[in-house]
Amino acid sequence: MKRTIRDLKNIEGKRVLLRCDFNVPLDNYGDILDDTRITAELPTIDYLLKQKVKLIVCSHLGRPKGYDKYLSMFPIAVYLMKHFPNKVKFCNKVVGNEVNVAIEKMKPGEMIVLENLRFDEGEEKNSPEFVAKLARLADIYVDDAFGVTHRKHASNYGVALKLPNAIGFLIEKELNVFQKVFEHTDHPFVAIFGGAKVSDKLNLINNVLDKADAIIIGGGMAYTFLQAQGINIGDSIVSLDQVDNAKDILEKAKEKNIKILLPVDHVALVGGRAKKVKQLEKGMVGLDIGRKTIKLFTQEIMQAKQIIWNGPLGKYEDSRFKKGTMKIARAVAKSQAYSIVGGGDSVSAVKESGVADKINHLSTGGGASLKLMEGKVLPAIEVIDTL
Ligand code: 3PG
Repeated sequence: MKRTIRDLKNIEGKRVLLRCDFNVPLDNYGDILDDTRITAELPTIDYLLKQKVKLIVCSHLGRPKGYDKYLSMFPIAVYLMKHFPNKVKFCNKVVGNEVNVAIEKMKPGEMIVLENLRFDEGEEKNSPEFVAKLARLADIYVDDAFGVTHRKHASNYGVALKLPNAIGFLIEKELNVFQKVFEHTDHPFVAIFGGAKVSDKLNLINNVLDKADAIIIGGGMAYTFLQAQGINIGDSIVSLDQVDNAKDILEKAKEKNIKILLPVDHVALVGGRAKKVKQLEKGMVGLDIGRKTIKLFTQEIMQAKQIIWNGPLGKYEDSRFKKGTMKIARAVAKSQAYSIVGGGDSVSAVKESGVADKINHLSTGGGASLKLMEGKVLPAIEVIDTL
């Protein structure tokens, strides 16, 4: 078991460096468009402030190449100032003298938000110099940036090796829910996968093949599976280099007696228009699951005790092709199953469908949740001490 912030004793007055994932969407005015990742972090911040530590909060935002005023952490600091009045300061530097002076002036129970970690090129390179500078800022390191745990960066990997460390409540929760599903599986266990590329989901499907009772496949990747079955997919997207892998998965599933459910009808783009079709033919591009498929998938979902979902089931960002994804989101929400949704697009789709509060867990990690579902070790979690 990983050490958590609850296990840190006698920390009053100590400088605690808290790595968060505040990589949130902002508009051109710096307004936060989705604050899920910030609200998910509030319990950890609240707890540490109540322990009267000097809290140093850091995060990346976007993928800047050097300084970028549109990717400053300032709007996030302002959000936190409103939430924790009179307790939050912002420092427009990542490391260095100004940061040291600002931390020096802090009182226990206060926090400071540092500038975007990725403004320093040492962050993504996990450079020893940047790691040393970060480590000098604090006495203790806490990682709660679940969304970046699949990365090996200075602020979540290098620094964890230099300081006494622990995970925060958000990482603890994310690990617990995925562990519940994969290690204490309740059956029937239904996995729903979508998205464009089979190659992105191969490891995931293979990992689930040992545990799930049914695998529902939609989205662009479904056409590679249909092609593998010799079904005409018209001009739909197909990964020709993955057709053999798809065949392999279909074979394995058959041997293991696991159902694989694929689309049986479609909403296709035909001559520039969206059209419901039973069978795809030349000139047709399948972009959403059809009515019969929605019914078929929904029946399976309704019987499930446990569901994981990664990837939209159609081109849901186009209103003509979003119905399938929205209906499946509602079915998952309506089912009695313990449900986890991971991956940026599927989480956005669930939110858009208005049923987010009926899903048991919406993961705050895209790439990180995918790795966890693949059964992979997350490097930034591996470096945290165990009890
Ligand atoms: C995410 O949004 O998935 C995380 O914040 C990681 O961001 P990255 O893919 O830019 O490392």
